[in-house]
Amino acid sequence: MKLSPAFLATAFLAFTSSAVAFPEYLARGFNIYPSSAATDTPLQAAFRKKVAEVKAGGDVFERRANTTRRNENEEYPRTIFSLLNPEAFDYNERDQYIDLTSDQHKFIAPGPRDIRGPCPGLNLLANHNYLPRNGVTTVAQAIDAINRVFGVEVELSTALSVYAAVFNGNVLDTTWSIGGPYTPTGIAGGVLDLAGGAEPQGISAHNVYEGDASIVREDYYQPGANNDNVHLNIQLFKELLELGGNDTTVGKDVYTSDLMLKHKSIRWEQSVQRNPLFYNSPFGGLIVTTAAERFVAEFAANNTAGPDGKNFIYLDEPNLLAFFGVTKHADGTLEYKPGQERLLPSWHRRPLAAQFGLGDIVLTLLNAAKTNPHLLSIGGNAGKVNTFTGVDVGDLTGGLYNTQTLLADPAALSCYLYQGFESALPSVLGNLYKVVDDALSLLNKNYNPVWHKAATANGNPCKSYQANLEKQSAKYPGSKVGNK
Ligand SMILES: *[C@@H]1O[C@H](CO)[C@@H](O)[C@H](O)[C@H]1NC(C)=O
Ligand SMILES: *[C@@H]1O[C@H](CO)[C@@H](O)[C@H](O)[C@H]1NC(C)=O
Ligand SMILES: *[C@@H]1O[C@H](CO)[C@@H](O)[C@H](O)[C@H]1NC(C)=O
Repeated sequence: MKLSPAFLATAFLAFTSSAVAFPEYLARGFNIYPSSAATDTPLQAAFRKKVAEVKAGGDVFERRANTTRRNENEEYPRTIFSLLNPEAFDYNERDQYIDLTSDQHKFIAPGPRDIRGPCPGLNLLANHNYLPRNGVTTVAQAIDAINRVFGVEVELSTALSVYAAVFNGNVLDTTWSIGGPYTPTGIAGGVLDLAGGAEPQGISAHNVYEGDASIVREDYYQPGANNDNVHLNIQLFKELLELGGNDTTVGKDVYTSDLMLKHKSIRWEQSVQRNPLFYNSPFGGLIVTTAAERFVAEFAANNTAGPDGKNFIYLDEPNLLAFFGVTKHADGTLEYKPGQERLLPSWHRRPLAAQFGLGDIVLTLLNAAKTNPHLLSIGGNAGKVNTFTGVDVGDLTGGLYNTQTLLADPAALSCYLYQGFESALPSVLGNLYKVVDDALSLLNKNYNPVWHKAATANGNPCKSYQANLEKQSAKYPGSKVGNK
């Protein structure tokens, strides 16, 4: 698979002197994050600006008074835009085109040996051969695909992809699977340093990347779910359509970020009420499942020209159905066939400049918590439904933060997330690997610096704290890692 021009351009911007860094990045010394770069990327600059505004009492997301530039009859106006707002840029047909029809990139359903998993976005990238059709990717291929097709900024796609390789994949050849277990055959020829000689589990493993209260998958330990956290649940999907008023209008922005975050809150409460072993894990729960709702609104959305030639981003029912692999028959019945996730042939990506980054994730969490403060909790049910208790933020951080301080400052929230993980990593990795050095070095180079930059935005001190997440998690009966 070749690396795309869009990716190369972004990677080039990201490196101040990229010439030496690039070839190296496919090898073990992989280090894409410009740790020495003094200058902010446009997204980092936008995040700093937003941090200052929120600290001064401003809204996390500005409410738009005037949406007349958007669709006529807009009943569900999108008020939540990414830091680099796609509607601030001119629509550019050629730049925003993605090949979805050539022999190389047309939709092909996975064969029996191809791996697919819980994330519709990754599944469809494999179905369109932007990720390898077999469902096993390298870190580099995933960064390229997510950046090229969905417009995710390189530093964020790097952090997400590296995390998958370290916790669900193989750090020696940087491969990971978008679903279940696999045998690595990459650069290192299947050499593994996972403890116990285990195969890498892929991102389907529960409570690592994949978490409870996800968009339209049931919880792994939920009674009746049969440990199936991978396949779409059609009833949950119908409820999502209902939240959108069953609106079938083509071209209408029904599934906005606003609506999807409301949906996240509903799903969270459902899990508390239905799953005695509900557990909102720090990464897979708190960060990933919340961000995932936002990802749908941002990445499944089609883009077109508004009346004034500016980009108009919208997610209507046909694009939503395709993204989730659901077919609507003529009589209105819905059918989900696993592995059918796709982008419709005429779909267009967001503007090249409107990249989506880590700061957007932090603001998404903040906004979700303003809708429902529970959404910021790490914690779970105590073995019965409706017994949720969260880890106390004050306890977790040695009194450094409480929920109120996190809600008032995006940099503080970034620091909380960053420090929580950094302090937990060595012990978690110690359980996973015989030798932790390679995994730790991959994270130190490509995961931690991204968070650190957000955590110290606007001179935020970001003092370290010893979160001891493992011990805190052990209190919750549903916190065990699951892979069938
Ligand atoms: C909203 O914007 C449109 C076009 O920019 C303008 O014509 C209209 O007067 C504005 N309406 C309000 C209420 O500000
Ligand atoms: C949406 O459609 C479902 C059937 O799939 C129906 O039960 C429900 O009442 C409808 N809701 C709205 C708001 O139209
Ligand atoms: C997406 O938008 C383009 C215009 O950019 C339009 O031509 C196309 O029909 C739309 N496709 C879908 C699947 O909504």
